[in-house]
Amino acid sequence: AYPNLAPRPPMGWNNWSYYTCDVNEKVVLDNARALARNGLADRGYDTVTIDDCWMAKQRGPQGELVADPAKFPHGMAYIGRELHRLGLRFGIYEDVGTLTCGKYPGSYGHFEQDARQFAGWGVDYLKADGCNVPRPAGRTKEQSYRDVYEQQSRALLATGRPITFSVSAPAYFQYDGDSVWHQVIEWSAKLGNLWRGGRDIALEQQSAATKWSSILYNFRYNAKLNGLQRPGRWNDPDFLLVGDSGLSRHEMQSQMSLWAMMAAPLISSTNLAELSPEAREVLGNRAIIAVDQDSLGRQGEVVAQNDGFTVMSKRLRNGDRAVALFNSGDTPRTLSTTAEAVGLPASSSYWMRDLVTGRGRHSDGKIAARVPAHGTVLYRITARS
Ligand code: GLA
Repeated sequence: AYPNLAPRPPMGWNNWSYYTCDVNEKVVLDNARALARNGLADRGYDTVTIDDCWMAKQRGPQGELVADPAKFPHGMAYIGRELHRLGLRFGIYEDVGTLTCGKYPGSYGHFEQDARQFAGWGVDYLKADGCNVPRPAGRTKEQSYRDVYEQQSRALLATGRPITFSVSAPAYFQYDGDSVWHQVIEWSAKLGNLWRGGRDIALEQQSAATKWSSILYNFRYNAKLNGLQRPGRWNDPDFLLVGDSGLSRHEMQSQMSLWAMMAAPLISSTNLAELSPEAREVLGNRAIIAVDQDSLGRQGEVVAQNDGFTVMSKRLRNGDRAVALFNSGDTPRTLSTTAEAVGLPASSSYWMRDLVTGRGRHSDGKIAARVPAHGTVLYRITARS
C-alpha cells in the first residue's frame, strides 16, 4: 500500500472553487502569505494546492510539462521554494488521462517523467484527477482507471519524495452502482491517502443557494462512507466554502462542523487575502479542528436523521464523543438526543462543551439545543465518573 503520508486529514487551501482557471503566481502566493499571516497555517492549514489550468497547452521538447509562462513567469520550482520558505507544503493538480478536465496535457504515458518533475519542483501533494482516461480494448472502465492510478501511485513512490496522494477516481464512479464504486474506493485507499467522492462543490460565481445545496449533497453522500476511512486513508467531500462566498454565518459553521465530524480534509477554497473576521474565526476554531484531526481517525455516525435534521456522533481518542445537532431545515428547531444514544458510557453526570461558543455545562444525559436554520450546534461530551 502507498505509505501513510496523512496520519491526520490533510489541511490547506486550493484555488479551484474561488478562482477556477484564473490561477497564477500572484493568486497562489497572495493566498499563501495570507495563510501564514492570519495564523491559519499555525492551526494546521499547511498545504497550498494549485489546481487545473496551470500548464501550457503543449509539453516541451523533451516531453516535459511546462508551466504557463504568462501565469507563472518564474516557473514552478520558484513556487515550491516560496511556499517552503513560508513553512507551507506545495500541492499541484494533474490528471491520469490524456488531458486534464480543463484540456491541458494529462500524465497518461508520462507518469514517471511527470512525477520526477514534480519531485524536482518540491511538490509535496498531488491531486490526480480522472478526466479523459482512455479505455483500452478488453478493459472495463474500472480496470482502465485502476491501471492508470496504479501507474501514478508507483511513479510517485519511485521519486523517493514523500508526496501525499489525492485520488479522484471514486468521483468518476458515483453513478455506476454500489459494487463497482466500492471496489474503486478499496483500491483508491491502497494507492493513495485520500479520495474524492460526491460531486464537485459549487464555485464562487454560483449562487449562495447552490453552494448550500452542494454542501448538503456532499455531506449526505460522504456521511454514508463512514468506515471506509482510517488514519492515512480519508474520504474527501471536497472544499470548504467558508469565506467570502455568500453563505450565512450558520451555513459556514455547519460546513466546518460537519466536515470535522466526518474527519474530512479541511481544504479551504476562497480568497484568503479578503477573508472576513467571521470566516477566519470559523476556519480557525481550535476545538473543532481538534475534532477533525482526532488521532483515532473515526468518522461520525448518524444517530438520527430525516429531511430536516441530522444528529451525528463521533468517537474521539480520549473517550469523549463529539455530537453534532444539524438543522438542515429552513426554520429554527430544537434538536435533542441522549448520552446513551450517542454511545457515551452510562453515568449520572456529563460535561458538555459547545465548541463554537466555548461554553461548558453539566448534563444528566440529555443533549439538546435550539438550532438556527441551516445551523449546527457541536458539543464535545465527557462522561464523569
Ligand atoms: C474536476 C475536479 C475539480 C477541479 C476541476 C479542474 O472537475 O473535480 O475539483 O479540479 O476538475 O478542471
